[in-house]
Amino acid sequence: MFGKRTSDPSSQAGPAPKPMAPSPTAPKSMASATPAPSPKPAAAKQAPQPEAQAAQAKPTPEPESTLQRGHSEEYYDVKTTVFNALIDTIDLTQLAKLDASAAREEIRDIVSEIIQVKNVVMSIAEQEELLEDICNDILGYGPLEPLLARDDIADIMVNGAGMTYIEVDGKVQETGVRFADNVQLMNICQRIVSQVGRRVDESSPICDARLPDGSRVNVIAPPLAIDGAALTIRKFKKDRLRLEQLLQFGSITPQAKTILEIIGRVRCNVLISGGTGSGKTTLLNCLTGSIDHDERVITCEDSAELQLQQPHVVRLETRPPNLEGEGEITMRNLVKNCLRMRPERIIVGEVRGPEAFDLLQAMNTGHDGSMGTLHSNSPREAISRLESMIMMGGFALPVKTIREMIVGSIDIIIQASRLRDGSRKVTHITEVLGMEGEVVTLQNLIVYEIEGEDEHGKLIGHHRSTGISRPRFWERAEYYNEQNRLAKALAESEVFDEHGNPVGDDNA
Ligand SMILES: Nc1ncnc2c1ncn2[C@@H]1O[C@H](COP(=O)(O)OP(=O)(O)OP(=O)(O)O)[C@@H](O)[C@H]1O
Ligand SMILES: [Mg+2]
Repeated sequence: MFGKRTSDPSSQAGPAPKPMAPSPTAPKSMASATPAPSPKPAAAKQAPQPEAQAAQAKPTPEPESTLQRGHSEEYYDVKTTVFNALIDTIDLTQLAKLDASAAREEIRDIVSEIIQVKNVVMSIAEQEELLEDICNDILGYGPLEPLLARDDIADIMVNGAGMTYIEVDGKVQETGVRFADNVQLMNICQRIVSQVGRRVDESSPICDARLPDGSRVNVIAPPLAIDGAALTIRKFKKDRLRLEQLLQFGSITPQAKTILEIIGRVRCNVLISGGTGSGKTTLLNCLTGSIDHDERVITCEDSAELQLQQPHVVRLETRPPNLEGEGEITMRNLVKNCLRMRPERIIVGEVRGPEAFDLLQAMNTGHDGSMGTLHSNSPREAISRLESMIMMGGFALPVKTIREMIVGSIDIIIQASRLRDGSRKVTHITEVLGMEGEVVTLQNLIVYEIEGEDEHGKLIGHHRSTGISRPRFWERAEYYNEQNRLAKALAESEVFDEHGNPVGDDNA
């Protein structure tokens, strides 16, 4: 078997084996023995190959109960000793030449042998778990692997070695997942960001990256993060939610779904507003579902998340500066370049800076049906956020001119919200009407109203129309022959009070 130690000392990546008797005081030296990309000798230099493969071949998810309760101290002690013995036995250089599944097999054989030789008492199930853990440490992202393998998790939030939270079904919960220590956590962060050619350490402690599966990663390391590196992962969904599913979840009504489809199809310029993780990108992706297949669409994103179904799509992504601080390509660079690419629609993943100006200009100059998302808590606030982005971008324009530009460009603002019970809703479909003096006037078409809460803490509420039967984009709808569907959806969204009167228009 190749796995036995070679005479080449550079292949030894760890200390000598420890005595196997699990002792609660055994030092947790596992992390320092974990082969990390940078600080290790020759053997470790080749290690990234199986790491990358392992990241694609995800292990089977760990049972949820283990994730929640975590492991005992004893388990970690046994793991440390087995791990150290393994590192001492295995030839990492040879291991690096294998593909992920062969490497796993090899590790499995050696670990079983170690367990036998050292007489560790373990059930088959415990042994399997230990094996999986050790494979993850050597080949993948360590304790993160079981979380990454689960499809129901939206976000993974690691706050230092001892604390990991996840978001499932809109609710944040703590897991039992923990890292051996902050060194192991930093090694894993390093492993993640090195895949996109970046580095995270004390001198550059903030870093954005992406996992091979497309998940969005942010790392902020000590000394900025006081209690150990904070790692945040927005899990990439292989299949983004569609409007049909938002309907099933109660995020929208069938009528609101129809209205959103029409808005997407008839080429309204749309801004999707919402807080962090409220479902903006998901909604944007849903709206793009109504784009005709013969339209040329260009998407600009910081981290490519959108999954357009159309054939004629050009996807662009910004680029952070390199280690020397050069070569950055900003969202503004992309949006400006887009205009020279004969786009029919421009989709900006997230508007957060001076690119707001270019997007508005594009919307204003024949690229109807362009869309973007923006962080804000209400349609009204979205307008002022846009305004300040333009002002802070150094455009010396009077406020009134900026507002006129906004009014002339944006047709619809869709507000997404994550409510306190964890559910996500479209809370407003709002039209930008015009200006009254210096004030931008808005008109809600559909609003979500909270009525109360059931015994399980779930919010009860309903969507309703505000009674507008002829929205401003009516002519567009007529042009695309969608006016009847639109009128019907709006009429059916009306809610009546106990006297049979429509619940009033709150647009005043
Ligand atoms: N209506 C919904 N119902 C249930 N889950 C949803 C809904 N909309 C989005 N999600 C889920 O919520 C998570 C966050 O969604 P999304 O990425 O669209 O949010 P975001 O507002 O773009 O976040 P960010 O501000 O970080 O960019 C995803 O996992 C997504 O699948
Ligand atoms: Mg987003």
